[in-house]
Amino acid sequence: MQGDGIIKELVLLDGKSAARVLCGSSLIPAPGRYLLAHAGGSDAPLAASIFAARAFADTSMSASGFLCAPPIPESWTPGMRLNLRGPLGHGFDLPITAHRVALIAFDDSPYRLLALFDSIPKQDSSVVLICANLPEDLPLEIEVQPMSALADICSWADYIAVDAGRGSLPGLKKKFGFGRPLKIPDVAQILVRTPMPCGALAECGICTVEIGSGRQLACADGPVFDLKELL
Ligand code: FES
Repeated sequence: MQGDGIIKELVLLDGKSAARVLCGSSLIPAPGRYLLAHAGGSDAPLAASIFAARAFADTSMSASGFLCAPPIPESWTPGMRLNLRGPLGHGFDLPITAHRVALIAFDDSPYRLLALFDSIPKQDSSVVLICANLPEDLPLEIEVQPMSALADICSWADYIAVDAGRGSLPGLKKKFGFGRPLKIPDVAQILVRTPMPCGALAECGICTVEIGSGRQLACADGPVFDLKELL
């Protein structure tokens, strides 16, 4: 699907630029899915892959849109028109039975994971966040735990969502094992951040990820994968 969006405003999230983007509701990416965005009039050769940190409804303008998680292209300014393609890729599949949810962001902001928060039933559910960079505007319902609690939280959770850069994947097993046997829930997923310039259109292969069952394209097979395939 293709459509237009407009940058309503830029906001700072943990010191990084993010943007509120107005667009049709069918273009809003579900958690873990992405859009390829190209600013109208821009001479940037490649589109940027962008993720939602949160969907929103702008009642003052009767419009829908989403808070685009950082990072965003430096050239973006308020009022800019965006050509959007998507939503693309495979996102998070939060089981409806999940009541103990762990969100783990290893090396970047956790906003792509926090997009899941609205989908988690608030009654009888607990959400724990482990991350290197703690957001300032975290909902009170989310409990924060240090990275040193990772193994215990993985044993406690019945669903895990992880955000990690492709470059950090070789060290992933060590992070989860901490020298002990791995214990993670049956449903555990990981969003692998990597450049996705063509969004599977040209099969450029730049987004290739090595997983247990072979090479996969993050743009089409991911960017959300089964965590166990990478451990
Ligand atoms: S971004 Fe080109 S194949 Fe994935």
